[in-house]
Amino acid sequence: MNRFFISTPIYYVNAKPHLGHAYTTIVADCAARFHRLFGEEVFFLTGTDEHGDKIAEAAKAAGQTPAQYADAISALFRDMWPHLGIEYTRFIRTTEKEHVRTVQAALQKVHDQGDIYFGDYGGHYCFGCERFLTEKELVDGLCPDHKTKPEYIAEKNYFFRMSRYQDRLLEHIRKNPDFIRPTQYRNEVISLLESGALEDLCISRPTSRLTWGVKLPFDENYVTYVWFDALINYITALGWPNGENFAAFWPCAQHLVAKDILKPHAVFWPTMLMALGLEPYRHLNVHGYWLVKDTKMSKSLGNVVEPRAMAQAFGVSGMRYFLLREMTFGHDASFSEESMTARFNADLANDLGNLFNRVLAMTHRYFGGVLPETAGADFSKEDSDLAGLAVAAACNWRDMFVSMRFSKGLEALWELVRALNKHVDASAPWTLFKEGKTARLSAVLHTTLAGMRKVAMLLWPVMPEAAEKMLAQLGQAFAPATADAAREMAELVMLPGGTRVETASALFPRRESLASPETATAPAKASKAKEKSLPAGAPAPAKDARAKDAPAPAEVEFADFQKLDLRLGTVLSVAPVPGADRLYIVTVDLGEDSPRQVVAGLAEFFKPDELSGRQVVVVANLKPRKLRGVMSHGMILAVRTSGGMELLTASGAVVPGSRVS
Ligand code: ME8
Ligand code: MG
Repeated sequence: MNRFFISTPIYYVNAKPHLGHAYTTIVADCAARFHRLFGEEVFFLTGTDEHGDKIAEAAKAAGQTPAQYADAISALFRDMWPHLGIEYTRFIRTTEKEHVRTVQAALQKVHDQGDIYFGDYGGHYCFGCERFLTEKELVDGLCPDHKTKPEYIAEKNYFFRMSRYQDRLLEHIRKNPDFIRPTQYRNEVISLLESGALEDLCISRPTSRLTWGVKLPFDENYVTYVWFDALINYITALGWPNGENFAAFWPCAQHLVAKDILKPHAVFWPTMLMALGLEPYRHLNVHGYWLVKDTKMSKSLGNVVEPRAMAQAFGVSGMRYFLLREMTFGHDASFSEESMTARFNADLANDLGNLFNRVLAMTHRYFGGVLPETAGADFSKEDSDLAGLAVAAACNWRDMFVSMRFSKGLEALWELVRALNKHVDASAPWTLFKEGKTARLSAVLHTTLAGMRKVAMLLWPVMPEAAEKMLAQLGQAFAPATADAAREMAELVMLPGGTRVETASALFPRRESLASPETATAPAKASKAKEKSLPAGAPAPAKDARAKDAPAPAEVEFADFQKLDLRLGTVLSVAPVPGADRLYIVTVDLGEDSPRQVVAGLAEFFKPDELSGRQVVVVANLKPRKLRGVMSHGMILAVRTSGGMELLTASGAVVPGSRVS
């Protein structure tokens, strides 16, 4: 069986977790689930880094002992992960006895073979980075990451002969092009190693200055430098030297870090491993920063986003999707509520959510929610083309995910989502139904539902919760251990005849944008542009305000209200009315024999894909009338707002045709 080991950095316990930590841990979880989907045995390691100056300082400021402080903050990290759908194998703490023992064993081994010596040292120490910075790394005398002036520290210390391994490391990186990825970080490390002699690494702190650390086994007046302690966690967790897991997982070990800790992982760690007589890990995967307004999100800068608040606002699945889709792995990405809302609405509410809503509604409308046998279906070239596209998208997705290019992989998957929506539009199931072409109708729905099944399955690593719900809506039992991902790469797996699907999906209800008009979504922009084009001095149009001020209609009897037949329906298709900019021809499933055709003035405010699949309130007994030559059988209810228009709908998914009362 293939194996996969993935680690996150162990996070410092000097402040509570923020979105940056959540991102790395979600990426690790996604990678772990991806490999589980292919039947591999997975070890997913995360944890907390609890020794060192930084923690001692933070504890002091909080009026606690370092141990108390570390216990409390470590628990915040450990308790956060299940709320974000993260399932790790092992949570390690550097204060665990087992780890302390392992660090001391490693130090003793390296010391015994002569790779640790005692000497003088003076250098620029950045407490944020917990390491000495070289002159070259300083920008205007400051640490480029923490924007603070490093402290000059001179004292007697122990050193690891890192320089001895410089050439071997460089050769290893040259021979293994994907040892450090993506390439820009590999190049960065190569030029660092080529640019001059690697200094030996200072690996101790005198206990006169710091006691919160692992004692050197060969000199009790010193504790271990935090990085020499922290990096060892990756092999402690596997039971080095003799643990079964070490033998099983070390050869396929992958680490995941952001670029802030590239040097410790790309230089200190592999040379430490060489000194320990171990093979280097397999891959170091390096990602960029989440920025807020062009600045790195960081606890020291105090501009952090709280992960649980974000999960609450957008759902765990929405949040995970955004983080993986929005950041091109390796590059920085900006976080804002506006970009999150826009991405959620476009990709999840519109593309994916609507696909599920409308196709489930159609399956109920035309086949009572139970799929006919494929044997009787009339498959065409369109169906086989789509099946080909589905397999290509799946293979693309796999190739991207395997090398941590999640954003690209999701793009590939969305090509399939959009193709499925197009397939529905182009085949017009409502027409096939009206014309009694049941065999063709069955083929269209089979192909589309099979594509939806594939999408849901391949989304499981990204959004386990929503994917499992989508599969349940498609009547599919799902367990990662029995999922046959390899088969998904080879064919479009049809749902068997007799499968019962759910009535409605409603997994990703649209979010309102809290954005300012400049950054809001398309409809708001359009109306803003119109306001701007008015002659100067003209009063701004405020239709919603005007509507509010307009005299209310006279009272009506309850009996009069009851004359209105208001119903909830699902929008099946949206098409423009030729020559009428503001009108759409909308077909709505109202639970009747065939869908209703309604002509609605929505075109100014919604793109067709923002409407199809949504549930709307329709005045069902309005006398039919012709608008611009097209018959309209009813009216869709909406509200004008200052930014544009909002549709009336129910707060949850309802069976099409349900009466409003
Ligand atoms: O460095 N964007 O711990 P740490 C993206 N204890 N990722 C971010 C981020 C941001 N704005 N901010 C933080 C340490 N991260 C050491 C590691 S490993 C043996 C020891 C994530 O608490 C990212 O993964 O400072 C980054 O590398 C890590 O948090 C740094 O966490
Ligand atoms: Mg940090």
